[in-house]
Amino acid sequence: FFEPITAAPADPILGLGEAFKAETRPEKVNLGIGIYKNAQGETPIPQAVKTAESRLLTEEKTKNYLTIDGVAAYNHATQILLFGENHEIITSHRAKTAQSLGGTGALRIAAEFIKRQTQAQTVWISSPTWPNHDAIFQAAGIQIRHYRYYDAASHGLDWTGLTEDLSQAKQGDVVLLHGCCHNPTGIDPTPEQWDALAQMSAQVGWLPLFDFAYQGFARGLEEDAYGLRSFAKLNRELLLASSYSKNFGMYNERVGAFTLVADNEEVANRAFSQVKSIIRTLYSNPASHGGSTIALILQDADLKAQWIAELDEMRERIHAMRQKFVATLKACGAKQDFDFIIQQNGMFSFSGLTAEQVDRLRDEFAIYAVRSGRINVAGITDDNIQYLCESIVKVL
Ligand code: LMR
Repeated sequence: FFEPITAAPADPILGLGEAFKAETRPEKVNLGIGIYKNAQGETPIPQAVKTAESRLLTEEKTKNYLTIDGVAAYNHATQILLFGENHEIITSHRAKTAQSLGGTGALRIAAEFIKRQTQAQTVWISSPTWPNHDAIFQAAGIQIRHYRYYDAASHGLDWTGLTEDLSQAKQGDVVLLHGCCHNPTGIDPTPEQWDALAQMSAQVGWLPLFDFAYQGFARGLEEDAYGLRSFAKLNRELLLASSYSKNFGMYNERVGAFTLVADNEEVANRAFSQVKSIIRTLYSNPASHGGSTIALILQDADLKAQWIAELDEMRERIHAMRQKFVATLKACGAKQDFDFIIQQNGMFSFSGLTAEQVDRLRDEFAIYAVRSGRINVAGITDDNIQYLCESIVKVL
């Protein structure tokens, strides 16, 4: 049976992690996968998570199954982070959330739901985007179209290209948007551009799907929800895939959420019953530990404040590294202007490095980045920045 199977290509991001692990040169630097690292180059467990976990360990009474949609308190707290306390969407019960296996799991639920339960034929995805977006919708059998997003000349948003392409999106088409910290470019729409997109969406009748994996990494938890909340004002129906992997540093606990917003509670309940059927056939119900830990933190004012302070620290460190990175490149003799890197949001920077330059960084200097030129700024530390910048200048 298995003999004719051909090998799958390595994943462009996770495959890098495997290659990095096998790398033996001691000077190696990992700017590939999107994980936060502190000044010591470690990916620590936030203190708020540690405290909640130890409390959970003593208070937990059963390992009974969760329901199909997971920890109820987690799902409720997720809606508050997304829409804000007492938002009409929450008080009128027209949002339904299911705890999912990370943001990727939420996206796959969304794709299956779109395919099986809506008339939508097409999903519009930004170009460039996180490579798994195309793969997930392909796997669900949904047609993909791309909209322009990045203007290489200005290192900014290609607003004209984006609006031109999305003006072809029809009623009932799904439009996938990155809630903040666009992956891989780090470039987000301005508030005015978000408002204009939300208006386009409501006028034409798109089904907006938000991928919200970096809340808190651009400017703050509330500020980063601007785009989503702008859409929520004008669009009665929305889908959302959110993730706590990065902002809680809980990557391996697979903490994500799928949220469906419908016009009213009755429709939301009906549609969500189908979401639960989909989950039942995919993985039955989620694991408890991560969701219960986050629910504890978000329900406890002190733990929540501690978590937010730790998240602020992550964001500020990345921002400081962006400035230092640009300054050090200059000091190392880079002729190009890299100031645009300071303006980008979140962990990623679209550096402008070509695939060939990325290959040279890996082969000659043991520096690992995604071949699109995406680098994870959170992987830069005081210890590796000089070596990194000298190496980059050599391949430019
Ligand atoms: C990334 O883009 O590096 C992260 O979202 C991790 C992943 O799953 O690819």
